[in-house]
Amino acid sequence: MKNLSLFSVCLSLLSLFLLSEVPLSAQSRRQGRDVDWAKLNPGFAGATFASDKEACFTCHEEVRERYQKTTHGRLFGHSPRGVLEATDCESCHGPRSKHVEEPDASLAFSVEQYSAVCMQCHQDGKRIYWHTSLHKTADVGCVSCHTVMEKRSHTALMSKSNQFAVCSDCHTEVQVKMRRTSRHPAQEGGVDCSSCHNVHGAPGRAMLVRGTVNETCYGCHQEKRGPFLWEHSPAREDCLTCHVPHGSNNRNLLVTQSASLCVSCHQYGGHINQYRYNRVSTPYGNGCVNCHVTMHGSNHPSGAKFTR
Ligand code: HEC
Ligand code: HEC
Ligand code: HEC
Ligand code: HEC
Ligand code: HEC
Ligand code: HEC
Ligand code: HEC
Ligand code: HEC
Ligand code: HEC
Ligand code: HEC
Repeated sequence: MKNLSLFSVCLSLLSLFLLSEVPLSAQSRRQGRDVDWAKLNPGFAGATFASDKEACFTCHEEVRERYQKTTHGRLFGHSPRGVLEATDCESCHGPRSKHVEEPDASLAFSVEQYSAVCMQCHQDGKRIYWHTSLHKTADVGCVSCHTVMEKRSHTALMSKSNQFAVCSDCHTEVQVKMRRTSRHPAQEGGVDCSSCHNVHGAPGRAMLVRGTVNETCYGCHQEKRGPFLWEHSPAREDCLTCHVPHGSNNRNLLVTQSASLCVSCHQYGGHINQYRYNRVSTPYGNGCVNCHVTMHGSNHPSGAKFTR
């Protein structure tokens, strides 16, 4: 107990030291990158940090209550981890000594400029591919998906109460697919778009979280990974040969009805022209998988034809 309180005394001394002694530029470098405010907007030239949010509230009282419920509001207000965080409002809005004296709207940032501001602190592992991401290169910015002045979502300060709604604003085609009869339950909250995509950027196809399609799918459907005694090679190669990721009107997210799917590769093989088999295939629509039940591979000694 004694040690603990000694430790916390040291800790608060240390943070006092950090808050007062270390120059701002070194601090923010420790947290990420510096932003050249005057380069973002020449209006900042010569301005200093007022570091006094009460001064801001004298004119912006309307933001006080909603901002203080946000992650930044709580953290910067109660336990800032450095000079930059301690400036609170100005860590995102820039040095505002001049604005306090001559207030106007001339220091407003664009979506792109805000991204540079956010990256002072958020250039961490999760966003290492941000600068080459399909979002950044299409002029989508942090504030296109996040609203930081108000807590609207349970986590991650999203611009709407849930992620599906945020993404649906721009990706209406995906939204429509997610309402088909067979779908990944994103609308229902059973999975998130971000379960499969790193929207902050990722190398490879469609910013998938694990680089390849199959690795992404195995993340939740481990039993499809194998290894199997009898591999069905297309399943090993690419799940999307037979499935669509978002939604389909064919059962099991299949690209087409399963019988025609199989026939696209097995036209000339097997027993395709033998009535006794095809009789079973057609009426049920499930077709081939009535008998070939292990389409992703089989571990049964006699499963070579995927019938067990
Ligand atoms: C984490 C970054 C961040 C912090 C910290 C922050 N803001 Fe903001 N603020 C923004 C962004 C981004 C916008 C643009 C509008 C939006 O996306 O909600 C904004 C908008 C505003 C606006 C204009 C629009 C509105 O919502 O009324 C005011 C005024 C404002 N902020 C004041 C403040 C004050 C005062 C503080 C501190 C108490 C503060 N901000 C802290 C990022 C921040
Ligand atoms: C004396 C009153 C006053 C004070 C003090 C003041 N502001 Fe403002 N602020 C204004 C006015 C007026 C506007 C312009 C509003 C408009 O045109 O919609 C504004 C606009 C803003 C905007 C939106 C436009 C922009 O420049 O991004 C932000 C953000 C903002 N103020 C942040 C702050 C912060 C942070 C502080 C404290 C350091 C602060 N203000 C202190 C009056 C004030
Ligand atoms: C296309 C929408 C979108 C854009 C653009 C976006 N985000 Fe996010 N962000 C999300 C979603 C969705 C989550 C929640 C899921 C997750 O954890 O990845 C999230 C989570 C976060 C988190 C909390 C979890 C984590 O990853 O650390 C931070 C911090 C964050 N975003 C910062 C940023 C910053 C900074 C930018 C701009 C450089 C940005 N975001 C751009 C959608 C977006
Ligand atoms: C001065 C540093 C700083 C700046 C600037 C900053 N953040 Fe943060 N942000 C933090 C810290 C600290 C946290 C708390 C989580 C953590 O430790 O990473 C956080 C958390 C978040 C979260 C997760 C919130 C949650 O409740 O899950 C999101 C999303 C986020 N920031 C987005 C942004 C966006 C968007 C901007 C720019 C408009 C921005 N941040 C600017 C420091 C900053
Ligand atoms: C189960 C995993 C998964 C989920 C959940 C998911 N996606 Fe995808 N998404 C993928 C895969 C895999 C691709 C790659 C498709 C391709 O390359 O043919 C993709 C492709 C995309 C594309 C590129 C265009 C297209 O349609 O091929 C967009 C945009 C997209 N997803 C947005 C979203 C949005 C928005 C959500 C949430 C509503 C979402 N995704 C949920 C796996 C998923
Ligand atoms: C402000 C609009 C906007 C929002 C909001 C948005 N996106 Fe995007 N997204 C885009 C644009 C523009 C592109 C560039 C490529 C394109 O046009 O599809 C893109 C690209 C993508 C891609 C890559 C597509 C490909 O062709 O490989 C994925 C995946 C994606 N977004 C997922 C998401 C997810 C998940 C969300 C929600 C967290 C989201 N987006 C929110 C506009 C947006
Ligand atoms: C984040 C976890 C997650 C990831 C990653 C994931 N899935 Fe799913 N998948 C689910 C959930 C949850 C269901 C719904 C299960 C249920 O309703 O019982 C599902 C259902 C399915 C179904 C059956 C759909 C139906 O109509 O019954 C197929 C097929 C499927 N996923 C294929 C894929 C493919 C292909 C990928 C890779 C692109 C993938 N999944 C990635 C979680 C995931
Ligand atoms: C050769 C086509 C084909 C490929 C490739 C394929 N699947 Fe399937 N998958 C099917 C068929 C057909 C069904 C329906 C099976 C049934 O009705 O018994 C199915 C059903 C599913 C289901 C739902 C039922 C279940 O077995 O859990 C999931 C989940 C699934 N596949 C995931 C995957 C994943 C993950 C991959 C990639 C590793 C993949 N599939 C590759 C044909 C394929
Ligand atoms: C993308 C092409 C493709 C699709 C679609 C496909 N398969 Fe295959 N299948 C293959 C390949 C390649 C092999 C391995 C052939 C070999 O080893 O001679 C194989 C092997 C088989 C075998 C074992 C054949 C043997 O000679 O041992 C059966 C049974 C089979 N598939 C059934 C199906 C069924 C049922 C479907 C539909 C759900 C289907 N396949 C969809 C490509 C495909
Ligand atoms: C009534 C059950 C049944 C149905 C329905 C069925 N199969 Fe088969 N299939 C079998 C059995 C049993 C074997 C193994 C036959 C053998 O080893 O002689 C087999 C073997 C195969 C083979 C391997 C043939 C070979 O030369 O070794 C392929 C390919 C195949 N089926 C594809 C299909 C396709 C495609 C469909 C749907 C159009 C389908 N099957 C429907 C029971 C069925």
